[in-house]
Amino acid sequence: MISVPIVTVDGPSGAGKGTLSAALASKLGYRYLDSGALYRLLALASERHKVALDNQHALVVLAAHLDICFEYNAAEGRTQILLEGEDVSRQLRTESVAIMASELAVHVGVRAALVERQRLFALAPGLVADGRDMGTVVFPEARLKIYLTASAEERAARRYKQLLEKGDNVSLRAVRLQVDERDQRDTERQVAPLRPADDAIQIDTSEMSADAVLLQLLEITVVKGLLT
Ligand code: DC
Repeated sequence: MISVPIVTVDGPSGAGKGTLSAALASKLGYRYLDSGALYRLLALASERHKVALDNQHALVVLAAHLDICFEYNAAEGRTQILLEGEDVSRQLRTESVAIMASELAVHVGVRAALVERQRLFALAPGLVADGRDMGTVVFPEARLKIYLTASAEERAARRYKQLLEKGDNVSLRAVRLQVDERDQRDTERQVAPLRPADDAIQIDTSEMSADAVLLQLLEITVVKGLLT
């Protein structure tokens, strides 16, 4: 039984969960769990160790032995994510890793192995957990559940802008296709599909700035008594 306060933020890729959850965690003074990073780390590890994405048994073994570390680097003001001692923070953010993560996330055994690791993040003074099934499966007892959405068109446009800023040479059409494909796999899988928890507060961010969404989230946390 987890006793610290937990805020879950679920939703499809590109809805703004990452930035907003990290900002909310910092305002509340809570820890932050980027659960997608765990699926991405497993994807990277599977590539390195030549484990096929449909080999559930080998993936479960890999997940159980995943050597990872989230380390805050004060000098750079960012969290470094290490896989087997190597900083893979940048590699993790690529589209190819995201697609592999979505593919291996369909396996029930893989999810069970990663759920245990995710629950270990629930430590004092509290946790903001971002993902697809935080409110429905991993932390059903959360004090506050948020479900962030935005139209597929808007999410693809945001993602496209980010990739251009990183210097990637991509087309908006290709990004839109990737967003649609990942949405479909994440919402239609048999285990823990992406969906809002029954008690989640849903926010459509299509027409909102990141600042406006954060403000709304902070207002909700005040109402819920998590922020005074
Ligand atoms: O949030 P993200 O884009 O980093 O997630 C990458 C993939 O990992 C996502 O497409 C599906 C999977 N994932 C999941 O199945 N459950 C989560 N809680 C988080 C991510």
